[in-house]
Amino acid sequence: MRMYDMIAKKRDGGTMTRQELEFIVGGFVDGSIPDYQMSAWMMAVYLRGMTDKEVAVLTDVMAHSGDMVDLSAIQGVKVDKHSTGGVGDKTTLVITPIVAACGVKIAKMSGRGLGHTGGTVDKLESVPGTRTAIEQKDFFKQVNDIGIAVIGQSGHLAAADKKMYALRDVTATVGCIPLIASSIMSKKLAAGSDAILLDVTTGNGAFMKTVPESIELAKMMVAIGAHNGRKVAALITDMDTPLGHNIGNSLEVMESMEVLKGRGPEDLREVCLQLAANMLVLGGKGKLAECRAMAEAVIADGSAYEKCKQMFAYQGGDTRVLDDYSLFAQPAAQYELLADHDGYIWSNDTEKIGNASVLLGAGRITKDDTIDMAAGIILHKKTGDFVKKGESICTFYGHTEKFAAAEEMYRAGLVYRDEKPAEKPLVFARVTAEGVETFA
Ligand code: URA
Repeated sequence: MRMYDMIAKKRDGGTMTRQELEFIVGGFVDGSIPDYQMSAWMMAVYLRGMTDKEVAVLTDVMAHSGDMVDLSAIQGVKVDKHSTGGVGDKTTLVITPIVAACGVKIAKMSGRGLGHTGGTVDKLESVPGTRTAIEQKDFFKQVNDIGIAVIGQSGHLAAADKKMYALRDVTATVGCIPLIASSIMSKKLAAGSDAILLDVTTGNGAFMKTVPESIELAKMMVAIGAHNGRKVAALITDMDTPLGHNIGNSLEVMESMEVLKGRGPEDLREVCLQLAANMLVLGGKGKLAECRAMAEAVIADGSAYEKCKQMFAYQGGDTRVLDDYSLFAQPAAQYELLADHDGYIWSNDTEKIGNASVLLGAGRITKDDTIDMAAGIILHKKTGDFVKKGESICTFYGHTEKFAAAEEMYRAGLVYRDEKPAEKPLVFARVTAEGVETFA
């Protein structure tokens, strides 16, 4: 086989066979296929697309390019969850303890922040002492002992994806539904859970900017799961506005704990309950309404919060900070960003809010940057809220010298108008193997 012929076949709209996909992915990972040929092939995929079967095979081949985690040492159904990324997206911290408190095992590997979006592993590490690099046998033991572990993803999972993603990033091929679907699902298949709930975020803070393209991505990922023997469901959730009020690592842990304690912002609580209920359905706990009631009950009786503390304690975290937030590392300074107009916030670009928090130190600009765990933003006014000139829109936390650049970034995404924007649902659609249910 020659890579030249593979590129020409896809360029002309052909469908790759398993053997050809193994040749392409294997050759790229072992270095026999150079970056320029892989780039040309991925651009051909971008332009020509892939059939559902083809993308399912590509995903399986990519999953097998690294370690395949075998979770059979953990008894019971294991359910994973993945978000396609967002700002203030702290749902994993809330829903995994809820689901574990309801008796479904969580053996989850999470990632770090990427670009303007945050990552669960960084958030976990804001609780002092928390270990996220855990050996596989200790990971299994933890899940068998307490029903939950959320740890960092091993570097050997879906090795092809790591290399392909880096190349897509510099060849204008990131925004391609078959390549996004195979990238995400190869890691999920390799991580070994029986069922996977996907949170496909949509809007100006997400990879997918519109509901129809999010549904298309979700349908493709659900089909990949079905082809590969995994149960997959997806919710399409709003990311035109950050979830909740807090952005930044320890700030997001605090807000998540508020939800687990039965408080917290309504949007975050609602999205988390819907995600948790869907995970419980995948875990075989019953119908959606029963599962939602179970999720509400473990918040109300405190067992979800206790499960969360148990997980942090098992991973070495100092759980006193979860009861008393003043024990978290404190920010060096804070700054109020004031409204310069009267009016409704018509839009507030979520990607820019995420980038402002990165500039404050809550994320990395280069891969070796260290994160300021106390840095971030608390939003007081969000899209649709009325503000008076001089009122605080949000508070920045971090080092004083970083406030000006973050303010410029934040203000660049802020639009005021005299009219209130139309309200949008938090969850637009639910996609399962049975079909698409829309709520808009
Ligand atoms: N997240 C991934 O893991 N891969 C993509 O391609 C996009 C988002």
